Amino acid sequence: MKKSGIDLSLYKEEQMKRRIISFYQKYGASGFSDASRMMENDPEMYKFFVEHITINVTEFYRSPEQWKQLRNSIIPELILDTKKVNCWSAACSSGEEPYSLSMVFAYNFPGIQVSILATDLDSAILDQAQLAIYPQNVLRRLPLMLREGYLLPQGMEWKVASQIREQVEFRKHNLLSDPFGSDHDLILCRNVMIYFTEEAKHQIYARFSASLREGGFLFVGGTEQINNPGRYALEAVGSFFYRKKRTPGGTNEGNPRING
Ligand SMILES: C[S@@+](CC[C@H](N)C(=O)[O-])C[C@H]1O[C@@H](n2cnc3c(N)ncnc32)[C@H](O)[C@@H]1O
Repeated sequence: MKKSGIDLSLYKEEQMKRRIISFYQKYGASGFSDASRMMENDPEMYKFFVEHITINVTEFYRSPEQWKQLRNSIIPELILDTKKVNCWSAACSSGEEPYSLSMVFAYNFPGIQVSILATDLDSAILDQAQLAIYPQNVLRRLPLMLREGYLLPQGMEWKVASQIREQVEFRKHNLLSDPFGSDHDLILCRNVMIYFTEEAKHQIYARFSASLREGGFLFVGGTEQINNPGRYALEAVGSFFYRKKRTPGGTNEGNPRING
């Protein structure tokens, strides 16, 4: 799909076909070329198409058990090395994931400075994320103290408090083609790898590993365990977290990063 820069061949074929077919049937198009023609003249339809194939479903504190492990063991280990934590929420959708992370830090680790880069392929969803206004139903898994502490009523909906929003910077980014940053302490990439081919996943894991500092963590989705993480210099810590291995005499071994 030239217009959006999305390379559909790197997504699982059958799954993608089903989503494309269900989309054009919904619009009464006879096939994909017919739907493409319709989208040339209909920006709204095009916007829905991108949303439909990229699957934006998310919520605050999705899979609470995994967040508990993050709070109770992963972050405490991370902050042994640094008091300034550099995080990346990749494929963040409408922002619930990076805002949950910001809340976890603010509530549980108030002395720690955190910066969260939150990226997604879909610019419309990033606009929504920046608004930071959410309906009640996406808050149901968020622990009460976080809900009470960091969400303010706005009509029938809820707005994320400025102290939480300030820690998060949103940016458009395609995991399949854009450069990855470096020196991340924690990368969250959840519930998107399932849509990619094995080859695409392999490339992305290798690049995540390269962009983590030694001893940093990758946090994956519930059904996204990595086969043979050692080939990416990662080691499993439970089912949803992978630690970047420290090389003997490497930058972090026995030499914590002191930057705040
Ligand atoms: C199901 S949501 C996951 C949101 C959140 N991480 C979570 O676990 O709740 C998947 C997101 O992946 C994004 N996405 C799909 N392909 C992508 C790509 N190639 N690069 C970056 N983001 C992508 C979609 O736009 C969508 O917002």
